[in-house]
Amino acid sequence: MSNDIRVWGYLREYAQEKEDIMRAVESVFQSGMLILGENVKAFEQEYASYCGVNYGIGCDNGTNAITLALHAVGIKPGDEVITVSNTAIPTVSAIISAGAKPVFVDIDSATYLMDESKVESAITPRTRAIIPVHLFGQCVNMNAINDIASRHKLFVIEDCAQAHGATYKGEKAGAMSHISATSFYPTKVLGAYGDGGMMLTNNSEIDAKLRRLRFYGAEQTYYAIEHGYNSRLDEVQAAILRTKLQRIEQYIERRREIAQMYNTLLADTSLTLPAETGNGRHVYYLYVVRHPNRDKILTQLREKGIFLNISYPTPIHLMEAYKHLGGSVNSLPNTENAAREIFSLPMFPSLTDDEVMRVASALKEVL
Ligand SMILES: Cc1ncc(COP(=O)(O)O)c(C=O)c1O
Repeated sequence: MSNDIRVWGYLREYAQEKEDIMRAVESVFQSGMLILGENVKAFEQEYASYCGVNYGIGCDNGTNAITLALHAVGIKPGDEVITVSNTAIPTVSAIISAGAKPVFVDIDSATYLMDESKVESAITPRTRAIIPVHLFGQCVNMNAINDIASRHKLFVIEDCAQAHGATYKGEKAGAMSHISATSFYPTKVLGAYGDGGMMLTNNSEIDAKLRRLRFYGAEQTYYAIEHGYNSRLDEVQAAILRTKLQRIEQYIERRREIAQMYNTLLADTSLTLPAETGNGRHVYYLYVVRHPNRDKILTQLREKGIFLNISYPTPIHLMEAYKHLGGSVNSLPNTENAAREIFSLPMFPSLTDDEVMRVASALKEVL
């Protein structure tokens, strides 16, 4: 076995949980129902209840969860949706797939989250929605966002892909907007063994609409009420996610423990360590640090068998695909400065204490 340490891996967790996972898979194969069966239904209820929301609608991935959420609130071509450029590409591609135009606001330079004080000046007569992204594992200041949204009659769609189980003033990520969207991509805090996603809402009409949108616009087979998509969560992933949901608090506890170890071991270095907002529980989907010599540090650690990651090296407004949106260099200074300096340390529940210590001492050596 190689001694390399990577930012993420699932094989150790699979070895630990194999019995439960294979039992879940086998039960689906034996059930006679491979699509939209009992597991999807149960997981929708269980995950919605974990988040404190009335309805959960499983879907195929987090990107489509955002697109369908935008369709469900009636976003149309020409509408504008405010979000951040410091996020995963899918937040933005989902807005474009829904026909709308993403409008970017800058982030807070300490937490890397949407700076709520920048939102109001980005609102135009065409603005219809705000997508705050609970990035790296902690929540955006939702009271401020919801206050702005209600004054300007905008929809809010939380992007919770990186924040399963994170809280804000006692509420779970995903419970603080008209619709929230999440991903169960394997690396996530609650990760599937393949793709998966979910939308959450407290509104029964939106729930019914999202169920149609993910299923060809139909409520029953062979009859569409409106134009829809095929965006279903499949039974195998739902069954696996049900078993993993039972362990989510353990996963989060271990992530927070690892973060605490890094905080202690790296306290006296020139790295800028993650800043918690103080508004709730950070679940440390990623442990993101910052240093002006980032690229050199990454190269030197790679030579020691430690592979770090950058989330994200290029802000979306500067990517080739999104230049037509009119983004320019220096338009979002906090976002662009962070992209030059941030990087993530290995973080997943089955990372051992020894590995955390190896990462920390290797970092100290090269610093
Ligand atoms: C912030 C954010 N939004 C959306 C997504 C999209 O999720 P998926 O990869 O399941 O489409 C991801 C994950 O990749 C993400 O990190």
